[in-house]
Amino acid sequence: MALNMDAIGKPIGPMTRDYTWKDAVLYALGVGAGFSELDYCYEKDLKVIPSFAIALIFDFFFQAATASNINLAGVLHGEQELTFHNPMPTEGKLITTGKIVDHYDKGAEKGALIVAQSDTALADGQKLFTSTITIFGRLDGGFGGKDRHQPPVKFPDSEPDFVVEASPSPNQPLLYRLSGDIFHLHVDPEFARMSGFDMPIMHGLCTHGFACRALIASLVPGRPELVRRLACRFSKALYPGVPIKTMIWKTAAGKAVWRTVNAENGQTVIDNGEFEYGDIPKNEIRFDDRVALVTGAGAGLGRTYALELARRGARVLVNDLGGSRDGTGDGSSSPADRVVEEIRAAGGEAVANYDDVSTVDGGASIVQAALDAFGSVDILINNAGILRDKSFIKMAPEAWRAVLDVHLKGAYNVTQPAFAVMKEKGYGRIVMTTSAAGLYGNFGQANYAAAKMGLVGLMNTLKLEGEKYGIKVNTVAPIAASRLTEDVMPPELAARSKPEFVSPLVLYLCADQCPVSGNIYNAGLGFFNRAAVVTGPGKVLAAAGQVPSPESVMENLEALADLTGGRVYPDLTAQVSDVLTACQKPAATSPAGESQGFSSVSAVFDAMPGAFVADAAAGVNAVFQYVIAGAGEWHCAITDGTCTVLEGIHDSPSCTLKMADTDFLKMMNGQLPPMQAYTSGKLKINGDIMKSQLIEKLFKLN
Ligand code: NAI
Repeated sequence: MALNMDAIGKPIGPMTRDYTWKDAVLYALGVGAGFSELDYCYEKDLKVIPSFAIALIFDFFFQAATASNINLAGVLHGEQELTFHNPMPTEGKLITTGKIVDHYDKGAEKGALIVAQSDTALADGQKLFTSTITIFGRLDGGFGGKDRHQPPVKFPDSEPDFVVEASPSPNQPLLYRLSGDIFHLHVDPEFARMSGFDMPIMHGLCTHGFACRALIASLVPGRPELVRRLACRFSKALYPGVPIKTMIWKTAAGKAVWRTVNAENGQTVIDNGEFEYGDIPKNEIRFDDRVALVTGAGAGLGRTYALELARRGARVLVNDLGGSRDGTGDGSSSPADRVVEEIRAAGGEAVANYDDVSTVDGGASIVQAALDAFGSVDILINNAGILRDKSFIKMAPEAWRAVLDVHLKGAYNVTQPAFAVMKEKGYGRIVMTTSAAGLYGNFGQANYAAAKMGLVGLMNTLKLEGEKYGIKVNTVAPIAASRLTEDVMPPELAARSKPEFVSPLVLYLCADQCPVSGNIYNAGLGFFNRAAVVTGPGKVLAAAGQVPSPESVMENLEALADLTGGRVYPDLTAQVSDVLTACQKPAATSPAGESQGFSSVSAVFDAMPGAFVADAAAGVNAVFQYVIAGAGEWHCAITDGTCTVLEGIHDSPSCTLKMADTDFLKMMNGQLPPMQAYTSGKLKINGDIMKSQLIEKLFKLN
């Protein structure tokens, strides 16, 4: 059984879980809380032990393990990291989504590591915590994958600042398991012995909960809401009833390292512990350590994006050719230089670049300039643009080409080398710039509209190709006063349409926090909404294998065009799959309201017992064998007024009817009279032909 490499990056979830204060209290009791920490156990002013978070998403562990195809006989919880974005409420409905991030190979002897990450939010969207689980697969090593080299947590040489002793009860696992982990190893003595233990062992996560209490009591007494991060590695099994000691060293403001040891023999049971605490920072979007590349950033929208990215910590490559509005002229370095000066004057970091996005070399140089200046590219905003409006009939090839070259080819030219960098580092944010002209149409902008819609297609594919590598690709359709819109926007609208009203959305699409990929958003004047290609539920217009007529399209146009209950497909496969499913179902009612009959051969035989007319079968004993090319064999036995339809060949049929599947369906749907089928050779009958003529009377199929 090999690990499933295809599972890496594939979404797991969303998984939902409701919990109440009683679940929080049950967990607290399970990890040793009691009267001395009544805040964790009494619904009045209840506080939640943050490590409860992992008990709430325990199913994710199993989903990740199952998706990875790990050998379940060797599964251990290796490491656990929890990062809190908001304090844990005392009750709520949680939604968890995640994925397997990677598989690591420690070698055939040592095993494999499966790292899975998930985000959990409340149903109203408030993000609560991120969990990173490392599952240790003792029996899955040696698959030839890369190893993971993670420096161990450094512990000070000094004595710990705090040592918290605790004595889990001999029955502790019996209580803890009620919070979700009901694995036999923690309850069943027989199972524990078979697994090589003298008796059921403590849940590692139960000891983890004891440690979390110890850390809170030592570092943020009475204030569990200040826990920001809790990470550790599980290293040894512990028997219930054995006392433990959690040793804690403060390392910096708001930071500590810790380990929990078996107090009887000194063995470390949880190692590499890290703990961060303090006020959970507001959900601020920052770009520290990120490198952003904005094309056409010398003016208009691009300039605003560049300034705001830099203000929030990004190092920015400001690209602008400095050409004229229609892309003619030699260009100028001054627009890009001015923006770089503005960024630097505000204390930010930026470098100018004057290359032309419309050439392959230009695209490569722009990305290279970011690598030379800052060593990476994390964010790319394809923003550069020109206009050459003309009604279509007057649009010269040069106007068509120039606009497609800057917008669509330009995005290809810059994105491809940037994508390579992002793929390598496993992170990227790309924003395409489309336009309402492309999404909805605009007179005189055939070139521009085509290019802008081309960018949506480019995004649709890149969102899929980038998914595995943490690259998110989205698209903005802005409305803003700029050089491009100065002659079309009335002055009062221009005054209210500053590019600053668009940039919040674009910055969010560039942020670590951005959860979406493949979305299009309109943005302008402070108004934002999503635009999407919506596909209606549609309708099958003819039975399987039949070509519907153009007239049937005409008669059904309203139903075909109806978008009620429509879907936004994530990819081509999902859409094709819906088409196939629709075509497998019996067709819906025909234009005239009549049944369109069967869409598959098996559906005919499924329907036969129900369509059997017992009154017409008095004295009939017969077996009709059907051999339907392309579909299979069925036989229908009539005895004593009953009918039995089975798949397969009967030993002694009265007669055998042979037909191609498409002809059979036509016949059964009333489009091919049986006699015509027989005389034209489409239906062949062997055996008792007379008996076969009873079929029409015996079954009322349509
Ligand atoms: P803008 O004209 O102020 O900015 C575009 C910038 O791109 C200019 O500074 C220009 O020098 C630069 N540029 C043009 N060709 C280039 C090339 N080959 N290489 C490098 N840089 C080049 O226009 P604005 O409005 O800020 O437009 C930004 C983007 O937003 C464009 O893609 C535009 O099509 C799009 N857009 C704007 C809308 C608006 O309401 N302003 C509406 C819909 C889309």
